[in-house]
Amino acid sequence: MPRLFGRLLVFGLASAVVTGQVEAAPGGPLEAARDGPVTFARDVAPIIFDHCGICHHPNGSAPFSLLTFPAARQRATLIAAVTKSRLMPPWKSEPGYGEFIGHHPLSDAEIEVVQQWLADGAPEGDPRDLPARPQWTEGWQLGRPDLVVTLPQPYVLPADGTDVSRVFVLALPVDTMRYVRGLEFRPGNQKVVHHANIRIDRTPASRQLDDQDPAPGYEGLLSHSAVYPDGHFLGWTPGQVAPLLPKGLAWRLAPGTDLVLEVHMKPSGRTEVVEPSIGLYFGDEPPERTPAMLRLGRQSIDIAAGQKDYAIGDSFVLPVDVEVQAIQPHAHYRAREVKGLATLPDGTTKWLIYIKDWDFRWQHVYRYVTPFVLPKGTTLEVQYTFDNSADNPRNPQQPPTRVLWGQWSKDEMGDLWIQMLTRDDRDLRTLNEAVRPKVIAEDIAGYESMIRQDPSRIQLHDDVALLYLDVGRAGEAAAHLEASVRLKPESAAAHFNFGTALTFAGRLDEAIDQYQQALKIRPDYGLAHNNLGNVLLGRGNPGEALEHFREALRLDPSNAEAHYNVGSVLRSRGDLSEAAGQFREALQLKPDWIPAVASLAWLLATAPDAALRDANQAIRFAEQAADLTRRQDASALDVLAAAYAAAGQFDRAVAVSQAALEMKPDATLAAAIRRRQELYRQHKAYVSPAL
Ligand code: HEC
Repeated sequence: MPRLFGRLLVFGLASAVVTGQVEAAPGGPLEAARDGPVTFARDVAPIIFDHCGICHHPNGSAPFSLLTFPAARQRATLIAAVTKSRLMPPWKSEPGYGEFIGHHPLSDAEIEVVQQWLADGAPEGDPRDLPARPQWTEGWQLGRPDLVVTLPQPYVLPADGTDVSRVFVLALPVDTMRYVRGLEFRPGNQKVVHHANIRIDRTPASRQLDDQDPAPGYEGLLSHSAVYPDGHFLGWTPGQVAPLLPKGLAWRLAPGTDLVLEVHMKPSGRTEVVEPSIGLYFGDEPPERTPAMLRLGRQSIDIAAGQKDYAIGDSFVLPVDVEVQAIQPHAHYRAREVKGLATLPDGTTKWLIYIKDWDFRWQHVYRYVTPFVLPKGTTLEVQYTFDNSADNPRNPQQPPTRVLWGQWSKDEMGDLWIQMLTRDDRDLRTLNEAVRPKVIAEDIAGYESMIRQDPSRIQLHDDVALLYLDVGRAGEAAAHLEASVRLKPESAAAHFNFGTALTFAGRLDEAIDQYQQALKIRPDYGLAHNNLGNVLLGRGNPGEALEHFREALRLDPSNAEAHYNVGSVLRSRGDLSEAAGQFREALQLKPDWIPAVASLAWLLATAPDAALRDANQAIRFAEQAADLTRRQDASALDVLAAAYAAAGQFDRAVAVSQAALEMKPDATLAAAIRRRQELYRQHKAYVSPAL
């Protein structure tokens, strides 16, 4: 396939995963196996040093070292078993279905050597045969970090239990925008820490969840606002340290961002102290490119107890060309098989990944040795199968019970994350816009599934309501926020949220009632005054609305919406001079806020009182409003035309109002624009009727 993106490959993410320095092993294992018994020193040590030492060295990411004869001898039977079954070195993707960095399997011959060693009594042999013992970098694999963060106090993992998943939220002390080129996770107790999902949260949501739990971290779900930064994977599994990103691909770390670590731990039978730390590596330059992250998968998973072959599938058609960089399947205990496939527009198929024997314990990010291009029109697809029967030895529930989608490890998931680079930022936008509704629809299904399991969790209702509002389904949002109000009737915020959803749903009387209840609980709730004012305005009650807007402003003079709203009411009453002042105040606080920009421009262009008009300023603001709406909005163009006409530039006014009409506005607006255009043709400006 042609490499469309020569430049992209230069900026590609793939480069060697950091490994220890391994000396080449002298002699081939087979050749050595022929004379005399197989020995540790001559035959087995080279294999272990080369394939196992990267994790099984002192203070490595595996729970014990295997670098010395006594250590290996003690576990000889186990070593023979886990190499034969290919459980170790851990690697789940099938060879031949995608070539990934860091894949270093044992050959059949090497496995045979280990078997023979055990059969021969696991002898040491002549210590002089030992190859040089590999050296492993103690400490940070990527070098000295620019910033290291740890828990304020270590977490104490209880002795018992099968698996513990805990979310730690770490403040990142940066006071200016930083560009992150690398992140290294150190588990702080490799015996019990098995893997970590790492995200960032630019909102206080994760921190608030952590604050509610007195111990370090909290047990529960990742907040919806905990995300991968700018399309970069941040997970950790033993032995995996993602290399530093190329300069142009750093991700932005803004002040106030928290790091969110979901750490998966296995209790050891003794109380254990866990103290993960994170090293961050900064670059000097802002990113030139941002990868896209596509998540395929279903959040409507619902598997009956005992069901053996439960399958889910999901697909997505690429709207642009992409270059695929890396892939990460994610599922829990009952998943058995994962297939990732791409079907190109010419009908040929390409494997992205194939895992025949899914194992929850190995949540790798698989980075392609050679990133590859998939053209626009390619269908990306995932297929998962799950076994929720008692025959599945990994099924944590015996006897099996019904399983729904959810983030707890007792629940199930089935995701495939795909990291891709696009040709340019325009394609990135196109791709992200196509991905968004699909992802939101699945997220909604996921929340509904979790809520079905536990309808008493306010956070879930609030989160899913936001998603519903995001896609314009205000009625469903209102239903969930009503549930929140029922769960916590003493919360002013709950009434406020419900009122807001009711407003979007057009149920104005009920909205007024909810805002009033919020204000009864918290009379100084400025946002509730503002929103209540809005609904009253919609109900044709500007007098009362104005009182609430003014009260909102009194409580918080920096509320731009309230300034704008006061301005709007005043304008409708003909008090244009004070209205203009309020619009300007709003713009001081929110300079690019389109309604304020457009309203001020309109007022300056068309005020009946000539003393208030200022054609030059009107053009400046109207240009700004048109640019902010990418010249795609009929109203903004209508304002701009009026501003040109006010300045006597009638030809331009006619042309711009023509452009406005081409945006196909609704009939009322279209008729008004046509009337105004007629005036401009006669070289007359438009003046709003005086009240
Ligand atoms: C990528 C890191 C990594 C590599 C490479 C690796 N291991 Fe492991 N190994 C681990 C981890 C982590 C565990 C603990 C497993 C767990 O907790 O699920 C483990 C566990 C084991 C166990 C104990 C299994 C059990 O059931 O108790 C043995 C034995 C073992 N490894 C041998 C090997 C051998 C032999 C090799 C090389 C052929 C190897 N490992 C390569 C990370 C690694």
